[in-house]
Amino acid sequence: MTRRLPERALQALYATGWDIFVGPEEIPNRSRLLWGVGGAVGLLTLLTERIDGEVMDRCPELRCISNCAAGLDNVDLDEAARRGITVCNTPGVLTETCADFTWALILGVTRRLLEGDRMMRAGEYPGWGPLMLLGLDLHGATLGVLGMGQIGRAVARRASAFGMRVLPWVRGASLEEVLAGSDVVTVHLPLTAETRHLLNAERLARMKPGAYLVNTSRGPVLDEEALAACLASGQLAGAALDVFEREPLVHPDLVASDRVLLTPHIASATQATRERMAMLAVQNLIENL
Ligand code: GLV
Repeated sequence: MTRRLPERALQALYATGWDIFVGPEEIPNRSRLLWGVGGAVGLLTLLTERIDGEVMDRCPELRCISNCAAGLDNVDLDEAARRGITVCNTPGVLTETCADFTWALILGVTRRLLEGDRMMRAGEYPGWGPLMLLGLDLHGATLGVLGMGQIGRAVARRASAFGMRVLPWVRGASLEEVLAGSDVVTVHLPLTAETRHLLNAERLARMKPGAYLVNTSRGPVLDEEALAACLASGQLAGAALDVFEREPLVHPDLVASDRVLLTPHIASATQATRERMAMLAVQNLIENL
């Protein structure tokens, strides 16, 4: 186990009677990771660890990599397949939790909650103003959903409760039409060679002027530098990001922008869901060893 998981999951793993090596609570550095995995037949990994050929070389008997995340971009799937190693993830159990959080970001950024909060805390609230912190009405607006997997569909389902029209983007449809027709675009795509920097400067320029962008998928789907430029020019009104290109780093121009709501990759972070993910990851490992 590359990093310590919730107690119930640890207990379930200990109950197998296997020799268990538990990594640290914090993100292990590369040398600690390479040392810790040595000789393992199964790995329980987190998205913070890059599990590539070098890691697999350390465990010649490795049979299963159980990644405690829906995303699998941190695992070299080709390398695992070449070696006959089964790779598992934890989809499903976090769907509704991530969809709820996406809506927290959509509401937060379009109604400028953090700008208001910062103003209040700084003692800068001058009293009610007719032009102060004006945002976007969600009712009657259009939500572009990039990726209609489980999470994308759960986000889209909630849109009708807010009176929004949904423009889904699925493979084969026109991305440009979705970008140009949406007041808010929310990203729910896996990170693959095809989706890396899908939202580059050219595509961001196709978005409706004054629109908002929300990303709870993977940071590299979006070119942060290009996004910062669109926000600085006023082409986009705001963005809410839970994931970043080089986590835990954030592009300094995004940090400097008032129009960006930043959260530390917490879309699935509820007590119950993190426990469900850990238990599923343990179960996947048990079933595949
Ligand atoms: C979180 O980002 C996950 O993939 O589960």
